[in-house]
Amino acid sequence: MASARYVTLQVLVTLALATAPWVVLSDPPPLQDFCVADLTGTTSLDGFPCKPAASVVDDDFFSGAMISAGDTGNPFGVNSTRATVSAFPGLNTLGLSITRTDLAPGGLNPPHSHPRASELVLVLKGEVMVGFTSGLNRLYSKVVKENELYVVPRGLQHFQLNVGTGDAVFMAMFDAQSPGVIVPTFSLFSTKPAMPMEVLTKTFLMDEDEISALKTKFAPF
Ligand SMILES: *[C@@H]1O[C@H](CO)[C@@H](O)[C@H](O)[C@H]1NC(C)=O
Repeated sequence: MASARYVTLQVLVTLALATAPWVVLSDPPPLQDFCVADLTGTTSLDGFPCKPAASVVDDDFFSGAMISAGDTGNPFGVNSTRATVSAFPGLNTLGLSITRTDLAPGGLNPPHSHPRASELVLVLKGEVMVGFTSGLNRLYSKVVKENELYVVPRGLQHFQLNVGTGDAVFMAMFDAQSPGVIVPTFSLFSTKPAMPMEVLTKTFLMDEDEISALKTKFAPF
């Protein structure tokens, strides 16, 4: 009898799952073997139009975009070199991309989020503190060393801080050809047109002079 009840439960769960709305956790699957992006295409769609198959060549599936270190001589001591679809057209429709990030000693990849992808971080050199915050403002973080991994769930705000003594390098792999990036500091202090002062003073519980001082620091960006 207990087992009959169990079977009924199983059937109900299976039915519930089968009829649930389709949950898509990454870019939609491609409909053909490949669709090398025609970056000059003028068609507006979700992604890029495909190059005609006859003009696709071996090198369309190759990228040397991440061979060289980015120049970290900026106030944050960070440089991300992206091999997303715009730099690597062979990724079009494949639902993945990769970024190389170089960090100077003490360098910070400031808190940011990727609206369209989870991020798998692989540290290649140095010691990097990777942290992300969940919707409940719980901070999860860990110092990640060479050949170790950390995963940042899709859309959550995260940072990478070089806590080692030398330079650090990590690769970030994404389940989207174009993960997108939102850096809250920039999207508050260096928007065009400017965010209304009243929004900023009320958001940060600061007066106009304090906000203006902050905005000056972000003006170059
Ligand atoms: C990142 O490095 C590249 C290559 O050295 C450089 O052209 C670019 O200006 C750097 N970006 C930043 C934000 O420093």
